[in-house]
Formats: sequence, C-alpha cells, structure tokens
Amino acid sequence: MPIAFWRDEYITGETIIDEQHQYLFSIINKLHDAMIEGKGQQILGEILNKLASYTVEHFETEEQIMKQYEYPDFVCHKEKHDQLKDAVFTLKKQWENKEQFLTVKVSQFMTEWLIHHIKGEDLKVMNYIRDNRHKYQKIN
Ligand SMILES: [Fe+2]
Repeated sequence: MPIAFWRDEYITGETIIDEQHQYLFSIINKLHDAMIEGKGQQILGEILNKLASYTVEHFETEEQIMKQYEYPDFVCHKEKHDQLKDAVFTLKKQWENKEQFLTVKVSQFMTEWLIHHIKGEDLKVMNYIRDNRHKYQKIN
C-alpha cells in the first residue's frame, strides 16, 4: 500500500524533473511497504544507496535547468539542495554506524523533502520557467 501518491499539483512541466520526482515517490513507497511488512531495516541500505545516487543526479539536472533559464533565486535553491545532500550523507553514515530507529527517520526525511521541497521550492522554479520560457531556448 503506497503512502506517497503522485498528484497533478506536483507536475512541474519539465518531463525529466517529473520523472525524477516520481522515482523519489517510488523509493518512499518501497521503504514504506517494507516497513509495514517489518522488513524496513533489511532494505534500508539499498534505499539509502538509491537515495544518494538519486540526489546527485536529480539536483544536477535541476541546477542545470535553473542555470539555463537564469533562475533569479538559484543560489538559495542550490543551498537547499546542498543541505538535502548533506542530510542524505549523514543518514548514510548513521546507517553505516548501525544507528537505531533509522528506518523511521529516513522515511520521515523523504516525506518532508517531498512535501516541502517539491511542492514548495521546485514549483517556484517551474512557475518561473513557464512564465519566462519564451525568452530562452528550450532544453533538449
Ligand atoms: Fe529542487
């Protein structure tokens, strides 16, 4: 049973970003399903590895798009990306150190990210791009 449902309000209009965001939803749901079955701990390492590589790839994509469209709040948005990257790195370290109750922490972290970053910051970027797209060449 999934916990994170994709909704129209999350659509940014940039296909690659939407696909990457949906991938984040799938990781959240995978961990949630495993937790319900009492197997959260077992797949936590796999989830954190996926999350770490996703974070790097996804933020690079978003930052490239922001630069291409000269997004005025780029520095602030990139800072938030860097904080999220640090948080994922910290969670990975905690997993390596076998910290307790980490499964719930990772699940909460990803849900927070989804709610605050995607629905807040990313939509601001995409609204800006939508309003200014005509000034710039379309990204391939
Ligand atoms: Fe972002």
